[in-house]
Amino acid sequence: MAHIIVVGNEKGGAGKSTVSMHVATALARMGHKVGVLDLDLRQKTLARYLSNRAEYLAKSGLDLPSPSYHDLPEVDQDSLKPGENAFDRRLSLAVARLEPDSDFILIDCPGSHTRLSQVAHSLADTLITPLNDSFVDFDLLAHVDSEGEEITSPSVYSEMVWNARQLRAQAGLKPIDWVVVRNRMGAQAMVNKEKMQRVIEKLARRIGFRTAPGFNERVIFRELFPRGLTLLDLRDTGVKGLNISNVAARQELRDLIKALDLPGVKLNF
Ligand SMILES: Nc1ncnc2c1ncn2[C@@H]1O[C@H](COP(=O)(O)OP(=O)(O)OP(=O)(O)O)[C@@H](O)[C@H]1O
Ligand SMILES: [Mg+2]
Repeated sequence: MAHIIVVGNEKGGAGKSTVSMHVATALARMGHKVGVLDLDLRQKTLARYLSNRAEYLAKSGLDLPSPSYHDLPEVDQDSLKPGENAFDRRLSLAVARLEPDSDFILIDCPGSHTRLSQVAHSLADTLITPLNDSFVDFDLLAHVDSEGEEITSPSVYSEMVWNARQLRAQAGLKPIDWVVVRNRMGAQAMVNKEKMQRVIEKLARRIGFRTAPGFNERVIFRELFPRGLTLLDLRDTGVKGLNISNVAARQELRDLIKALDLPGVKLNF
């Protein structure tokens, strides 16, 4: 059985597609077979990222391990059972097709609440939620008091994950391993950073997720997209840019992969 990794957060721009690309490519480079689905049917950032990669590799004659991207299959409306949702069918068909030949299936979700995203969350063995270092973004996980110290209540996204967990429990599936990953952390704003750390830890205990080290704010993450590359590919492509910041970023990715603790994954990069 393939292990399903879902990358989700209802907040736009949290870093889902960036984290998805890096995790999927890291696993492919470690020799695992990785199938990728992009549920952001409008923006298709991850699909675009991977097609940029295919184009760049073909053009430069390189053969680097890559995840394989798959569109959701179309379904004939007439083939749906009464009351069956077309999106549910398309997603389950896509997963069923990938499952026999994948070690991992990685699903990137849109930055909004959609039916597809909701169903995908209930399929997650591992759920990765990138979170920007801001209380504005944290507000979708939980509401906090005016001091930013105490949690007053869980919020929409946590409730959605809670529902997904209930569904899995009812179906007798193993619980979701939910990992919240802080993204785009800056060197400044220490007070905010520490406050965020404290409420995240409080919320983790209260609603049941763990935290993993994420990425600092780094220009390189915005520059790799047109060539479809990740931090791990730079050395193989002769692309200039292995400066200290990029070496540190590679280490952040390594730490993230380690913390995800995925089945059968041994760090070798
Ligand atoms: N660690 C980082 N350092 C610098 N820029 C980053 C970092 N992570 C992501 N970005 C940039 O932030 C923007 C949003 O990232 P990304 O598209 O991965 O987020 P997303 O959660 O997938 O967004 P959406 O909700 O729209 O799908 C992009 O321009 C991306 O290049
Ligand atoms: Mg995205």
